[in-house]
Amino acid sequence: MERNYAIEMKGITKRFGQVVANDAIDLSIRRGEIMALLGENGSGKTTLMNMLSGIYQPDDGEVYKDGERIYIRSPREAYQHGIGMIHQHYKLIEVFTAAQNIILGLDDGRMDINAANAKVREICSRYGFEIDPEMKVYDMSVSQKQTVEIVKVLYRGADILILDEPTAVLTPQETQKLFGILRNMKDDGKAIIIITHKLHEVMEVSDKVTVLRKGRFIGTVETAETNPQALTDMMVGHAVTLNIDRPRYPDPQAKLIVEGLTCVDEEGIKRLDSVSFTAYTGEILGVAGISGSGQKELLEAITGLYPVKAGSVRFIGRDGNEVELVGKTPKKIRETGIGMAFVPEDRLGMGLVGSMGMTGNMQLRSWKEGRGALLRKKEPENLANRVMEELEVVTPGIDYPVRRLSGGNVQKVLVGREIASQPEVLMTAYAVRGLDINTSYTIYSLLTEQKMKGVAVLYVGEDLDVLIELADRILVLCGGQVAGIVDARSTTKEEIGLLMTQFNTGRAER
Ligand SMILES: Nc1ncnc2c1ncn2[C@@H]1O[C@H](COP(=O)(O)OP(=O)(O)OP(=O)(O)O)[C@@H](O)[C@H]1O
Ligand SMILES: [Mg+2]
Repeated sequence: MERNYAIEMKGITKRFGQVVANDAIDLSIRRGEIMALLGENGSGKTTLMNMLSGIYQPDDGEVYKDGERIYIRSPREAYQHGIGMIHQHYKLIEVFTAAQNIILGLDDGRMDINAANAKVREICSRYGFEIDPEMKVYDMSVSQKQTVEIVKVLYRGADILILDEPTAVLTPQETQKLFGILRNMKDDGKAIIIITHKLHEVMEVSDKVTVLRKGRFIGTVETAETNPQALTDMMVGHAVTLNIDRPRYPDPQAKLIVEGLTCVDEEGIKRLDSVSFTAYTGEILGVAGISGSGQKELLEAITGLYPVKAGSVRFIGRDGNEVELVGKTPKKIRETGIGMAFVPEDRLGMGLVGSMGMTGNMQLRSWKEGRGALLRKKEPENLANRVMEELEVVTPGIDYPVRRLSGGNVQKVLVGREIASQPEVLMTAYAVRGLDINTSYTIYSLLTEQKMKGVAVLYVGEDLDVLIELADRILVLCGGQVAGIVDARSTTKEEIGLLMTQFNTGRAER
C-alpha cells in the first residue's frame, strides 16, 4: 500500500436491485491534487462519491485513508475522516444566515454565533470566498448558496473535498472564481475531487482524470497528457465526432412575431423592455446574454407563465392563420403548438413528477386532446420509448420512477419530452446543463432535425461556442432589451460578448 495517497478506493461495487451502479472501481488521490471524475450520465460518479461521503455503503471493496483501512458508515463518520461532499442539490435552510446553516447539526450544542461568524470570515479570507456570514440564504444567488455549502464542509475540518457538478449552475465568471478557490485549497494541501461534464473545465482545473463508463473503471490519466477528444473516446468507449451540422432550411417562414414585449416584475422593474424579433420556421434562433438578462422572462412570457405588460406575440399556424398569444392561458398556448423545456438552476423543480415513470411524465405533457382514451395511453408510451432510445436514457424501464435515475438522465426525460412532442415552436433553455458531452451533441442534432422539419427553435444557452455553431441567428439580450440580432455564420464571440454588455444599466443583475 502506497502511503502517500490521501484516499484510495479499491474494487468498490454498489448495486441497486438489478442495477450495478459501480462495478469494482478503483480511485486514488493525493493531497495537493485536483482530480476530475468523468463519465456519461448514469455511469456511477455520484454513487461512487456518495460512498466516500458516507451516504451509501459499498457492497464490496475497500477504502483506505493515508494507507489505513477505514469504514465510512455515515456522513458524520466521513467528516471524522476529513471527507466532505458538496452535493448537486443544496440542503440549506432559507431563513437562516450563512453561519447558522454552517454550524447546524454540529455537536457544539449552544454554539456562540459570534464565534461562528468569526470563524466563517476567517475561512473566507483564507481561500478567497466572498460571502457575508450574516446574510440570509433566501437573499443569496445560487453561487452564494454553493459557497455556503463549501464553507460548511471546510468549517467541519474537511481536507478531502468532493464537488458534484458544482459548475452546472454557475456562470462562466462564477466558475472562474470557484476554480481560483479550488487552486487555493489545493495549494493548502487539500485533496479535491470534482465531477463535471465540461471537458474544457477538466483540462483547465484538474491534475488527473478518472473515467468511468457504465459503472466500470476505465482508467486514470494525467490531464497534461490527454485532450478532450481522447477523454470523450474513453468515456463513450468508441471514437465520437464532436461537430454540429448546420444545414439551411429551404423555405423559412415567419412563425412567431414578437413585438414590443414588455414585462415588469413585482418590484416594478422592467425585466423585458420592448423586445421585438421574428422567429422563422426552419431556423434555430439562439438567445445569448449574461445570466438574468431576461432569458427566463422571455420564454415564460411567450408561454403565458409571466405576466405581459405590453406588446404582442403572434403565432402563425401551419394553415397561415394568426393567433395572438398574449392573454391566453399557458394551457391554451401549449395547445397552439408551443413547447418549452426550461432546465432551471435548481434541477429538482423541473416539471417532472419524481415518483412517476417516463410514461406518466410524458402523459402530463401530452397536449393532443380530444382523442380516444386508448390512444392517449399509447401515445405517452410511444413518446417515452422514443425518448429512451434517442437519448439513451439509462433506466431499467419506462415505468421506473424518474427520481431514481441519475441527475443527467432525469434531465434527458425533461428535454426529450419536449422535443418528442414535436411542437411547432420549440423553446429550450439550458437544455444541456448537466448532460454529458455525447448526449449534448445528440440534443444539438435533435434540435437541428426539428429545425429541418420546419420547426421554429429558440435555443437559450450559455456556451457561446455552441451558440455560434448551432444557431442560424443569435439574439443577444442585455438588461431585458434586445442588444442585437446577428447572423451566427459570420459573427464572433467577441461581437456577442460586446453586445451582451452593451447597455450598462446595472439592472437585471441577480
Ligand atoms: N438510490 C438509487 N436507487 C436506484 N438506482 C440508483 C440510485 N442511485 C443511483 N442509481 C442508479 O445508479 C446508476 C448510476 O447513477 P449515478 O447517479 O451514480 O450516475 P452519475 O454518473 O452521477 O450520472 P449523472 O452524470 O447523470 O449525474 C444509474 O443507473 C442510476 O439510475
Ligand atoms: Mg451524478
